[in-house]
Amino acid sequence: MYTPLKLKKENPIVLGIESSCDETAAAVIQGRRILSDEIASSANIQSLYGGVVPEIASRAHTDAVAAVVERAVKNAGIAYADIDAVAVTYGAGLLGALLVGVSFAKAFAYALNKPLIAVNHIRGHLAAAYLDEPQLKPPFITLLASGGHTAILHARSEAEFDILGGTLDDAVGEAFDKVARVLGLQYPGGPHIERCAREGTPNIPMPKMLKGGGGYNFSYSGLKTAVINYCHTKEQKGETYSIPDVAASFQCAAIDVLVEKTVAAAREKGVNTITVGGGVAANGYLRETLARACEKAHLKLVLPEKRYCTDNAAMIAAEGLVQYGLGNFAEMSLNAKASIPLSVTLEKK
Ligand code: KG4
Ligand code: ZN
Repeated sequence: MYTPLKLKKENPIVLGIESSCDETAAAVIQGRRILSDEIASSANIQSLYGGVVPEIASRAHTDAVAAVVERAVKNAGIAYADIDAVAVTYGAGLLGALLVGVSFAKAFAYALNKPLIAVNHIRGHLAAAYLDEPQLKPPFITLLASGGHTAILHARSEAEFDILGGTLDDAVGEAFDKVARVLGLQYPGGPHIERCAREGTPNIPMPKMLKGGGGYNFSYSGLKTAVINYCHTKEQKGETYSIPDVAASFQCAAIDVLVEKTVAAAREKGVNTITVGGGVAANGYLRETLARACEKAHLKLVLPEKRYCTDNAAMIAAEGLVQYGLGNFAEMSLNAKASIPLSVTLEKK
């Protein structure tokens, strides 16, 4: 059994393990510096089914996890004994998929007599910004835009966030995926919509999306339905439509409101830094639009590299580092959880 730490290190070496969806990932960081970052994805198989099949994801994780962790440690140029803590995503996500990472991390930590850290996947997305900008310190405003969440948060400290607003229905990533499916594009839809939108013009009117009102809340189900209705009506009339124009119009409507409200939140809170996290933050149009808006408003923007916006293990290690600093270590009885509230302060132990 792990013996409690007598002295916490200043820049510990943290191994992060992520298996909440269709990516098996492992990474090693030292302080906020990334030493290695490995990923094996079953997305190619999943795209044959138009979405993630949980059973296929679990089996792919089981096949990949040992080799991915081994590669991460080897490429970091360290020995197993050099690892100071093992951080693993315990939720939210697909239960069977999470269990693979959690079981592996528990066995690994136990065998090495190292502390185990339980990471909320969404907090991992928020912590990715620390790897991009090692000097970053709260307070800041974070735009969280992933497949399951859309929210604007006010980070008061590394561990304490206020949720200023969020989606009332679908997450923005979910809307990208559903619209992509209607347009006959592959899963995951976001990158395909982005590629397609580059060839199109945003000339199709879209619903207003709680633009002026709604505080910092969003609603994506109306936008999604408007796109679906547009396509179906055209098809019923036997008329053609431009898929690139639909993609561009949807993308602008979905992203512009996020950018507008995120900048407004920074102004209202008197905070001069904005960070982003989550798969949709890899979207080129979002990145360019937000960068321009921040420049205009004289705000500093921390924009993690695209690969650290989508699911990865370096961000799990980064959140592990935050929890290490707080001395929040998990028991060997740790279990996976399919859902954990976004109100991340609830997770304080
Ligand atoms: O954060 P993430 O990798 O997984 C979750 O925790 O949900 O986000 C996945 C979501 C998917 O809905 C995917 O379509 C979207 O992020 N996404 C994008 C882009 N890359 C991934 N959406 C828009 N543009 C992109 N380039
Ligand atoms: Zn994610």
